[in-house]
Amino acid sequence: MGGHIPRDFIDQLLGRIDIVDVVNSRVPLKKAGREYTACCPFHNEKTPSFTVSPTKQFFHCFGCGAHGSAISFLMEYDHLDYVEAIEELARTLGVEVPREQQRGGNKPRQPLDDSLYSLMEKTSHYFRQQLGKSVVAVDYIKQRGLSQDIVQQFGIGYAPDEWDALTRLFGRDYDRQKLLACGLQIANDNGRVYDRFRDRLMFPIRDRRGRVIGFGGRVLGEGTPKYLNSPETEIFHKGSELYGLFEARQQTRKLARLLVVEGYMDVVALAQFDVTYAVATLGTATTREHIQQLFRLVPEVVFCFDGDRAGKEAAWRALEVALPELRDDREIRFLFLPSGEDPDTQIRNIGKQAFETSVQQDALPLSDYLLENLKQQFNISSREGRARLTARAGSLLGNMPDILLKEQLITELARLAGVDRAVIRHRQNRQTQSQPAEMPPWIREQNSPRVRRITDQEVRMTPVRYAIALLLNYPDLSPYSENPEQLIHYALPGVNLLCKLVETAEEHPHIHSAGLMERFRGTEHEKILLKLMKWQPQEADMQILQQEFQDCFRQIKRQARQKALESLLHKEQTQGLDLQEKHDLLSLLDDIHGASE
Ligand code: GTP
Ligand code: MN
Repeated sequence: MGGHIPRDFIDQLLGRIDIVDVVNSRVPLKKAGREYTACCPFHNEKTPSFTVSPTKQFFHCFGCGAHGSAISFLMEYDHLDYVEAIEELARTLGVEVPREQQRGGNKPRQPLDDSLYSLMEKTSHYFRQQLGKSVVAVDYIKQRGLSQDIVQQFGIGYAPDEWDALTRLFGRDYDRQKLLACGLQIANDNGRVYDRFRDRLMFPIRDRRGRVIGFGGRVLGEGTPKYLNSPETEIFHKGSELYGLFEARQQTRKLARLLVVEGYMDVVALAQFDVTYAVATLGTATTREHIQQLFRLVPEVVFCFDGDRAGKEAAWRALEVALPELRDDREIRFLFLPSGEDPDTQIRNIGKQAFETSVQQDALPLSDYLLENLKQQFNISSREGRARLTARAGSLLGNMPDILLKEQLITELARLAGVDRAVIRHRQNRQTQSQPAEMPPWIREQNSPRVRRITDQEVRMTPVRYAIALLLNYPDLSPYSENPEQLIHYALPGVNLLCKLVETAEEHPHIHSAGLMERFRGTEHEKILLKLMKWQPQEADMQILQQEFQDCFRQIKRQARQKALESLLHKEQTQGLDLQEKHDLLSLLDDIHGASE
């Protein structure tokens, strides 16, 4: 343990190791042009779409979207945390990891995230200890038929029946704000602070790397609310996390399919019966982000719902959000359990084998379910019913990408509605925006799978983002940025980040993409940078890239002027302008006029 690892050391380390060696010693690589490829170790595939770039020192999978530096690779593949991954890399070079001495009273400020994670971990550990000490909790576990092993594996614990257990656990000098910030405590109107979870069985929710980011707490026996979940926090986002995903990946490195169920207990019970590939949403409806996460890991997703009305509604919602994520090589099916059963009770009733057989045989393919459901919703024996069916089908299909399944559905639906295929096709009203308008030409024109992934991203391309994407992929472009310091004055989203990147790249002339990315690990910018990094421009002439890059800066400046102009014009109409503002307005008008000539 000890202090921080010095930034310089990490830079040097990344400069000395070669990601190709790091990956190749674990996943044998083949050379293909300038890059190396293999079948992706993070999802199941038969043809290689995993590539490692020696120039960028970055890996990327075009199938599942996994990507990152050598450090990220080790974290994912060897299940290491950040520090462990660095230690492992240092070990292969035979060097010691130095630590910065923490000077008394002048501790380097930890990013907020880190401490929230450690706080959650400490709490989770405490809950696990409390479980053994509580007779009621142990009784409840027994009554629910949970084994010791499974309790251990999922880290299930117990929050004691007290208002201030965590206050005592963390002591007086602990930062109260943080216990509130991670949702473990609540402050009432009088400012009194108390524990959120009391007398509940606690399910820790872990992120992809196994860090505890939230809890679900169940009452022992009857009572309301039955489940209490952590609120949204800086580190916990219900719409994108899946309970049990970390545990499933621990069990099987290359998962073939994932089963989506509704409850914590369902995930745990299935795992106890050796169905170790179930995950649950966190008491929320399935989101598009969930679906994306799932398909990043597996080609097949089976939703498993109760057969009652609530279950059917949840299934239909899941279908609707899943449509835009369908691809030719992705499969979604729906399994409806007998009324009154959930996966927990069902697997205890019929056992692993029968359960899995039922998943194989009874789960309806998405297209069957869709057609069945539409047939039930509309009376297709009447002309009006068929017209409404056509309209509904149109809006559903409008959300699907152009894949084979869509063609088949169009054929079926045309038959049901008694109309020509062209009618259905024509009715599609596109709700999803397809290609962003400002894509550079070589991306727009390409039709390769690479481009499909690029348009998959839900980031709208703006000149600022495009400049960032270019710079991330080609840090050597930094000298071609035109007066980036001017940009700071423009209140355009992302401009600050762009300037930081330019600055970093200029300070470190030989930095490669991965090195640049690593400097932003754990910051608020990491997520968007990773997304933009994936936006790999096709191999292009360096000269063209320079022009593109410079062009971005011109566009950014133009946009900023436009924005300033609009706000001045608005002010002129509503409040009037002072002298300086009038002057600004005139010169902006001049600029814009001049630029358009
Ligand atoms: P058991 O009754 O213990 O078997 O739990 P279960 O997992 O079968 O729960 P159920 O099917 O009733 O609910 C499914 C999921 O919905 C739970 O795992 C929770 O995530 C969520 N949920 C259920 N009840 C509540 C509630 O009262 N409040 C909140 N916020 N979520 C709930
Ligand atoms: Mn249940």
